[in-house]
Amino acid sequence: MIHPTAEVERGAKIGPNTRVWNHAHVRAGAVIGDDCSIGYGVFVDGGAVIGSNVKLQNRVSVFRGVTLEDGVFVGPHATFTNDRYPRAITPEGRVISEEDWTPQPTLVKLGASIGAGAVVLAGVTIGRWAMVGANSLVTQDVPDQGLVVGSPARLVGYACACGQALEETASGWCCPGCGRGYDLPPLPAEDER
Ligand SMILES: CC(C)(COP(=O)(O)OP(=O)(O)OC[C@H]1O[C@@H](n2cnc3c(N)ncnc32)[C@H](O)[C@@H]1OP(=O)(O)O)[C@@H](O)C(=O)NCCC(=O)NCCS
Repeated sequence: MIHPTAEVERGAKIGPNTRVWNHAHVRAGAVIGDDCSIGYGVFVDGGAVIGSNVKLQNRVSVFRGVTLEDGVFVGPHATFTNDRYPRAITPEGRVISEEDWTPQPTLVKLGASIGAGAVVLAGVTIGRWAMVGANSLVTQDVPDQGLVVGSPARLVGYACACGQALEETASGWCCPGCGRGYDLPPLPAEDER
């Protein structure tokens, strides 16, 4: 389903059962898997790679160099960047075109969630089932199931695959919601996060 007001450029690849909602823009060279939801006003750049069962809420921006694996959730207005040191022109004043530079790759692994309004800096890897709090600024890698919040985002806990924050018990990390248990490392000391 592609909404009549969405713009999907020729050369974009979109899998079956993916819905592209109002005013979304998918550029040539973008790859999107099956059963995704591409929300209102989302921008997917050419060279961005999105797996299957991914949900992008309204106004999310995914630029070239960014890979979102299967089952990733991205809250409204979150942004993935692809250049840590951006410039529009060279020191000599020449305009830098897209072909003049290579994006720093960003990877979000299976099942991870990115909260509303988060900004993910280029070059970061976000682990499987990690949870990024709303409005966080992610400047460094997030471990599998890591729960990070703030600006800059810091590891404050771990998240269950169901989404709840895990609790540390004598027998390991446990989900108070669904009861799943995990063997995860203890949280590093606060000044090492
Ligand atoms: C990060 C998150 C998962 C934490 O949930 P939680 O474990 O239930 O957290 P709590 O509400 O118990 O808060 C725990 C602490 O973290 C803080 N906190 C929670 N979310 C935060 C955030 N996004 N940024 C900064 N601090 C946050 C709380 O203030 C609290 O701090 P305190 O211990 O000093 O009082 C949740 O708050 C969040 O941001 N979810 C994303 C929501 C979203 O964007 N959804 C998009 C779809 S609409």
